[in-house]
Amino acid sequence: MFRTHKSGEIDEGFVGQKITLAGWVNSARDHGGVIFIDIRDRFGITQVKADPDTVSNEVLQVAHSLKDEFVIQVIGLVSKRPDGTYNPNITTGKIELIPDEIKILSKSDVLPFQVSEQSNVGEEIRMKYRYLDLRRENMKDNIITRHNMTKKIFDYLVDNDFLYIETPSLIKNTPEGAREYIVPSRNNPGEAYVLPQSPQQLKQMLMLSGFDRYFQIARCFRDEDLRGDRQPEFTQIDIELSFAEQNDIIDIISNLFGELTKELFDNKLINDEIPIISWEDVMNRYGIDKPELRTKEMQIIDISDIASKSDLKVFGDVVNKGGVIKSMVVDSIFTRSQIDKYTSLLQEKGAKGLAYIIWDEEGPKSPILKFFSDDLQKELFEKLGLSKGKTAFFQATDWLLANEYLGYLRTILIRDLELTKGKENELNFAWIVDFPMFEIDEETGKFASMHHPFTKPKEEFVPFLKEIGQKLKLGNKLTEEEKKQVLNVKADAYDLTLNGYEIAGGSVRIYDQELQETIFYILGMNETEIEERFGHMTQAFKYGVPPHAGIAIGFDRVVMIYQNMPNIREVIPFPKTQKGEDLLLNSPSQIDDKLLKELGLQVKRKNK
Ligand code: AMO
Ligand code: AMP
Repeated sequence: MFRTHKSGEIDEGFVGQKITLAGWVNSARDHGGVIFIDIRDRFGITQVKADPDTVSNEVLQVAHSLKDEFVIQVIGLVSKRPDGTYNPNITTGKIELIPDEIKILSKSDVLPFQVSEQSNVGEEIRMKYRYLDLRRENMKDNIITRHNMTKKIFDYLVDNDFLYIETPSLIKNTPEGAREYIVPSRNNPGEAYVLPQSPQQLKQMLMLSGFDRYFQIARCFRDEDLRGDRQPEFTQIDIELSFAEQNDIIDIISNLFGELTKELFDNKLINDEIPIISWEDVMNRYGIDKPELRTKEMQIIDISDIASKSDLKVFGDVVNKGGVIKSMVVDSIFTRSQIDKYTSLLQEKGAKGLAYIIWDEEGPKSPILKFFSDDLQKELFEKLGLSKGKTAFFQATDWLLANEYLGYLRTILIRDLELTKGKENELNFAWIVDFPMFEIDEETGKFASMHHPFTKPKEEFVPFLKEIGQKLKLGNKLTEEEKKQVLNVKADAYDLTLNGYEIAGGSVRIYDQELQETIFYILGMNETEIEERFGHMTQAFKYGVPPHAGIAIGFDRVVMIYQNMPNIREVIPFPKTQKGEDLLLNSPSQIDDKLLKELGLQVKRKNK
């Protein structure tokens, strides 16, 4: 037996007992001949005291030779620490172990960074030595909390009649939105599986099979550009229900987060009732579909009526062309160079410029004020609530773009002005509903699903869509007006957002085969393509489909936010870098010629 107890469970109650502990040397310090060793395992830290007066020479010698992160075994007597040397922060803070024997089980080289301290270490080094990084206290806490959250969610769903069902990771190329990873097959040279972006179609199949209330902790794979909240491989809590509607999903998931927070995070402040906001409303007010709501500041307002009366040509032109002028007021003033920086950031996104009014000690200042009469200025200031110490920003363009540019600026300003400082323990959830059904794919210029192709359009748009689908099926083109109308179609799709992140997304599904085909036509597929890519779906939909709906929670993001981490790499044991590389395993890597041959593949080598 390596140990009789775990470090961390030893408290005053053990005084007088002989125990054996095993673990890492967290630190070994020589205090005038007395050596204090902190021994660490997963459960805690215990102090070992090798005093020349109380331990044998042999033990003392071993104690002297210990270095950080050696793995040792200690047999010793639990004793009370002298008064005044207590450490109130740990369970073992009132005791220490007087060693009879210290055995070195394994030595450690000099470490690339300190494990026992939270010093700042470059991410590349951390990733290369991830196994050491994971020994550190905050990483351990992230991983263990993640486990606790997984268990809580698992239990909650099981208690609510959900069945845990696994779906395969080798599936067929059936695009849902993101690029897929392909897996060549030796038995079928030249052919490939793909890794699932999500178990979407399979969970729908499970509904067809009658497994109402499915869930899975599902690994998903997407070959996308990476960001702080995106990994090529990530974990979803994937959920699907039969005979369910949007409300059912909203109730179940809202309760899930309520219970999760109450039971595991009693220090967190959660909004009592989660607001349900339409996509149109959230875009209108926050310019983003995942608003940071811990601050209610900087809501976007429409000032088209006032601004179009000014002599500023861009403003008038935009309104005449059906656009809008929108403004956002910030409780702060900015220097010229700050304004220039924000202007460039918005221009990089495509904005034409960034008009502003800064109201400093000397009064309102702006290159555009001269185009407003005194009366109009007064009207404008009143509508904006603009006064000393504030700045107003303006965007004149199409409704969606104007909101998006200001929404982007809002996100940047919240960061720069640290508006969520002191609110680290607040959780501000919001449901966003009634998303548009389609958007334009920037690469192809074609319609693309905003959520995915299996999402049900709102009932009132179905007759129109079926008409459009029929037209496309017959090979006709849509008029500009029809295209516009298609973009106005709303879907029964919903996202759950938290503190400025999208943490879950889902929809009510189409269960009418004809409507499903209509959507495929609108997405630019013809009959053959539909059959090739989605034949399994259209076939299955002929045999009695229950109305169904579902959602998937982006679990890594949830853990990141609850743990107040700056990115999801901190809550994933072995993540990829921003470039999609695994610095520990050194992947991706080149594949052996022999293997390539077996797979029937030829590869253009890249010089690394
Ligand atoms: P969606 O694509 O919205 O929906 O994904 C669900 C949630 O997964 C998280 N997420 C990610 N997390 C980390 N890295 C990524 N690359 C990444 N991409 C997405 C987000 C997102 O809200 N099958 C549908 C769900 C459904 O309709 O039931 C789906 O996958 O938090
Ligand atoms: P200009 O008349 O082009 O010098 O622009 C006057 C101010 O309006 C500058 O601060 C520009 O950055 C800004 N601006 C120009 N076009 C737009 C627009 N479409 N929306 C908002 N601001 C703009």
